Amino acid sequence: MNPDEFRKAGYRVIDWIADYRAGVEARPVMAKSAPGDIKAMLPASPPQQPESFDTILGDLDRVVLPGITTWQHPRFFGYFPSNALLSSVLGDYVSTGLGVIGLAWQSSPALTEVEEVVTDWMRQMLGLSEAWSGVINDTASTSTLVALLCARERASEFSLAKGGLQDQDRPLIVYTSAHSHSSVEKAAVLAGFGKANVRIVPHEGSHAMRPESLENMVKDDILNGRRPCVVVATTGTTTSTALDPIERLAQVAKANNLWLHVDAAMAGSAMILPECRWMWHGVEGADSVIVNAHKWLGAVFDCTIYFVRDPEHLVRVMSTNPSYLQTAADGRVNNYRDWGLPLGRRFRALKLWFLIREQGVEGLQARLRRDIDNAKWLVREIANTPCWKVLAPVPLQTLCVRHEPPGLEGEALDKHTLEWAARLNQSGQAYVTPALLDGRWMVRVSIGAELTERQHVEQLWSLMTRAVEAGL
Ligand SMILES: Cc1ncc(COP(=O)(O)O)c(C=O)c1O
Repeated sequence: MNPDEFRKAGYRVIDWIADYRAGVEARPVMAKSAPGDIKAMLPASPPQQPESFDTILGDLDRVVLPGITTWQHPRFFGYFPSNALLSSVLGDYVSTGLGVIGLAWQSSPALTEVEEVVTDWMRQMLGLSEAWSGVINDTASTSTLVALLCARERASEFSLAKGGLQDQDRPLIVYTSAHSHSSVEKAAVLAGFGKANVRIVPHEGSHAMRPESLENMVKDDILNGRRPCVVVATTGTTTSTALDPIERLAQVAKANNLWLHVDAAMAGSAMILPECRWMWHGVEGADSVIVNAHKWLGAVFDCTIYFVRDPEHLVRVMSTNPSYLQTAADGRVNNYRDWGLPLGRRFRALKLWFLIREQGVEGLQARLRRDIDNAKWLVREIANTPCWKVLAPVPLQTLCVRHEPPGLEGEALDKHTLEWAARLNQSGQAYVTPALLDGRWMVRVSIGAELTERQHVEQLWSLMTRAVEAGL
């Protein structure tokens, strides 16, 4: 495909996406395909001869779309919102179209310098002090792994340059809560701490981590010859957006020389609203913080900002310096390959740059405030309706709800919950996520898709009440 052919095909691809986006509301939210349906439409072996672009594009409608769950649908209330505002989509296209790789500053100076500026814009938008430096990673999972590697190396006085963890006289301990994301335990295991050295700190009824329990567990580990290393706290847990008390945890971390990593993957976006910043009060006492711009904020996946207070430490842990990557600019510039795991880096800053400029900070703030208001409305409706319960505090836009008909409890209640959620999802009219909270199934309603207005939340509420009566 030459640039002229690309131009023609590209217009058609953009048209196809614009049509798809303009028509999302008419599509089923959850894909209706059964396992294997999509694969069955595809040839098992690759084409030997070139195919026309018409045929390829035609297969998007025929093969791909039936297997797409419509995340950008205004009645998508599943997981967390993963907004992909169209300005950021264009930024991502430009990144792809440029076809550059950030191996070093010199391999595309703009890739590094736009990222420096945009991560600093994000720092200011979130109300973080100038002590923080940011870098863009693919995901929160990768970033938490990086944080735990940095914590490990600080506590072990750079064991990686010696015998690594295998040389340590005392096991290093990770603390987190049962409500932290599964990526925390995964990162701890991959970073070599071992599952047996991950402590689950008890939580309050609100699902927030208890700092006194952390303190006691740390003391106990020291007494028993272990070395406390890192605490991973969450601002906005995945199940219920619970808020760990960052200030108190930071005090315990400081007193015991623990690394404090704050996972604000979801709730971090809300910190662009000054009225929400109490939720991570004390964050300046952390060593690292992550915010997924690819969730509520609206940068198309993937775009996690990893903020650190000590970039020199990060570089010392992550850097490799083979001769073929050295340049005359080294020492005067950031080589972001030394700030994370991969050597090659996409120009991810473009999608965030496009998004922030096209929306303006005030545009982003207005949308998030709309979603918080819509969540408050739904909380009131549910709380005022017999047999319905909101099961956890709703500081932001995610509700944990259950329909509890009289006389139904235990496994029978679980069955009822899973059945009505399945009916709702299978109807294709809205999408919610069932999850376990305090050992019982409930339904998460996460408001915040870009197109979700009050009327869509009203429609969801009506669908929920019909789903419990099997009226869908
Ligand atoms: C609190 C929290 N942390 C981490 C993650 C993982 O995000 P990612 O897919 O960017 O790894 C999620 C995903 O929803 C999350 O809710």
